[in-house]
Amino acid sequence: MEKLYIHPLPVRLWHWTNAFGFMLLIATGLQIRYLDLIQLLPFRTAVVIHNWIGFVLIANFFVWLGFYLFTDKIKVYHPELSPKKYFQASFRQMQFYGYGIFRGEPNPHHPSAYHKFNALQSMLYQIIMMLLVPIMFVTGLLLWDVTRFSTMVEMLGGVRVVDTVHVLLFIVFCGFIIVHVYLASLGHTASAHFKAMITGFEEIEDEPKQETGH
Ligand code: HEM
Repeated sequence: MEKLYIHPLPVRLWHWTNAFGFMLLIATGLQIRYLDLIQLLPFRTAVVIHNWIGFVLIANFFVWLGFYLFTDKIKVYHPELSPKKYFQASFRQMQFYGYGIFRGEPNPHHPSAYHKFNALQSMLYQIIMMLLVPIMFVTGLLLWDVTRFSTMVEMLGGVRVVDTVHVLLFIVFCGFIIVHVYLASLGHTASAHFKAMITGFEEIEDEPKQETGH
């Protein structure tokens, strides 16, 4: 069993702060939005905690962005530029998750320090980190003080539009977390990817030569 260092410390610190923060944002956000359904905390306390965690996660996002922008590890996020290769790799990965994994077939993706994501992860993480997370944070910031940011809020169509985008993304993130945690449990053992995100080291299973070719 080979060990590969694939998650550098700043990424791991960012990730677990982000994951824990998202859980708290979801819990306090639910309470703020559905006051009549959930009342774990007084409304005002839920709002204050939600805002503070929001600011911590915005700062944390810049830790993630700064790390990738200022190191060569940004390569893990470089997209595959050949559409043919990209779609073939995505299709193989979907086949594996939907079928091959239940037949004990090997994962078609073989990670390395600069190529740790499979085609599906690569696309999903780019959309999440470059698009959805920033939109979530910007809409959250605008809703934090609609008076201060009234010009921007009006430009975007008003409080209702900004709020709707924020809540729709909340739903998307709840779905993402479920799928993400399920896929993260599909390593060579159920806990392998979680351990890797804690220690930095992914264990790479040795595969018999004849089974690796695709
Ligand atoms: C209970 C919550 C979470 C758990 C248990 C979890 C678990 C994991 C694990 C095990 C990995 C490494 C395995 C892999 O996917 O290859 C990972 C990577 C990643 N996760 Fe999560 N995650 C959680 C929440 C989140 C949230 C809320 C986000 C974003 C909003 C997120 C974004 C990412 C990204 C972007 C990566 C790749 C990081 C990189 O190497 O650059 N995760 N997660």
